[in-house]
Amino acid sequence: MKNKEAFFKHITEGNTFKGDSITLGAAMLEGKTITDAYVKVPLKTMNRHGLIAGATGTGKTKTLQVLAENLSEKGIPVLLMDIKGDLSGLAQPSPGHPKIDERHQKIGLPFDAKAFPVEIMTLSEQDGVRLRATISEFGPVLISRILDVTETQAGIISVIFKYCDDNQLPLLDIKDFKKILHYATGDGKKEFEEAYGRISTASTGAILRKLIEIEQQGGDLFFGETSFETQDLLRIDENGRGYINIIRLTDIQDKPKLFSTFMLSLLAEIYSTFPEQGDSGRPELILFIDEAHLIFNEASDALLSQIESIVKLIRSKGVGLYFVTQNPTDVPEEVLGQLGLKVQHALRAFTAKDRKAIKLTAQNYPDTAYYDTAEVLTSLGIGEALVSALDEKGKPTPLAATMMRAPMSRMDILTKSELSKLLSDSQLAKKYNKEIDRESAYEMLNEKIKQAEAEEAKAKAAEEKEKLKKAESKRKTSTRRRSSRQNPLLKVLTSPTVIRSVLGILTKMIR
Ligand SMILES: Nc1ncnc2c1ncn2[C@@H]1O[C@H](COP(=O)(O)OP(=O)(O)O)[C@@H](O)[C@H]1O
Ligand SMILES: [Mg+2]
Repeated sequence: MKNKEAFFKHITEGNTFKGDSITLGAAMLEGKTITDAYVKVPLKTMNRHGLIAGATGTGKTKTLQVLAENLSEKGIPVLLMDIKGDLSGLAQPSPGHPKIDERHQKIGLPFDAKAFPVEIMTLSEQDGVRLRATISEFGPVLISRILDVTETQAGIISVIFKYCDDNQLPLLDIKDFKKILHYATGDGKKEFEEAYGRISTASTGAILRKLIEIEQQGGDLFFGETSFETQDLLRIDENGRGYINIIRLTDIQDKPKLFSTFMLSLLAEIYSTFPEQGDSGRPELILFIDEAHLIFNEASDALLSQIESIVKLIRSKGVGLYFVTQNPTDVPEEVLGQLGLKVQHALRAFTAKDRKAIKLTAQNYPDTAYYDTAEVLTSLGIGEALVSALDEKGKPTPLAATMMRAPMSRMDILTKSELSKLLSDSQLAKKYNKEIDRESAYEMLNEKIKQAEAEEAKAKAAEEKEKLKKAESKRKTSTRRRSSRQNPLLKVLTSPTVIRSVLGILTKMIR
């Protein structure tokens, strides 16, 4: 009993903050929920990233749902990577359940069923707001990292971008990029050689092969216009609640390259467009990545180090990243070390390897006089988790086995008709779901090749004629020929893509 009172005080004091916070549930001691001993996360440290881990079926996705709902309610927009497609229910209120009432009674929190403002997005042809980006926006550095090319090939990619920049050729989609690669060693070979030195066919061939790999994973759907503006992730509804943007990635599991490409471009774009955050005491945007091992497992070393540095940098923009995965070891050490909030659901101890992992996991939590952490890790029930957050000074809050609150929205997906209603009401779908293929590098280079051929033919004809007319006219011909070579261009496009920096949004953050 004494122990219980001391524990209550320990938890309550450790979860009292100056600023606003989110309540996750109530602390548990010796398997019993201690009513009103609330476990919270201060909004102020939510940009310090986090991890939600645990075996299958222990409650990770519901924890994500709870966090998303409460952030939305505080006016903070959220972006969810929904790999299994089980989060769309956020748009409908919970039907309620006696078990939910029981849970909330134990915690000491009222239960309100509510729907939240939701926007459904997609990288492919599934229903949802289409998320796209242009090749130009990626810039040569990021494209090289994504394609995982050699240094020489990366050099060629830089030259290609420079050429397109110099010549106002918008690189929008994969078709454009392929065209210019062919051009550099084909029709445009001489022009490139004079301006930038020789480019080998072997190198462009290697780049093309990597490009095709991305294309086969659906990259042709992702690269192009209308390019998504990250500001649209920050919408607040008429009731002051943050939008919950759900990216449906159910068809992405066999396309890890595309997924990591997308993730990295999104983070880079956020990093380059969001203003530096002062001490606002609350995050601007929170991102959740369910089944996060998917991005880490298939990523190249270059890509991984890129992700690590972005995770570090993006904090200052008020953006928090939350990884949801079965095992903490799915997340690279470097990233793991930077995570502020840890919500660890039950782990299973089937094998010796499991037991070792549990020991390691337990060591990552703050010391506590109230628990044997490793033992608690295996005895937690469904919808219960060990929680440790960062307080407003950046110190860990008391470790608490927590009875998590239930989601206020539906713990199941939307029906087909609910989904199509949501989409037909969507403002963003109207903005982004138009197909456009405006004149870009592909068309312009084709035009250029045609023009060059026409001019060449004309020049040849003239030459023949002049030959007959002899000596004096020879000079003229050569001038004309030279000028035809020096006249590559083509109309100047005041396209937003060109303005949004053909050299890439990332150059300043990549060292
Ligand atoms: N916080 C919670 N409140 C109520 N029920 C929960 C909660 N967490 C988990 N559950 C129950 O457990 C089931 C599995 O949870 P889920 O989050 O899908 O597991 P995971 O993502 O870890 O595989 C849910 O369908 C729900 O019935
Ligand atoms: Mg899940």
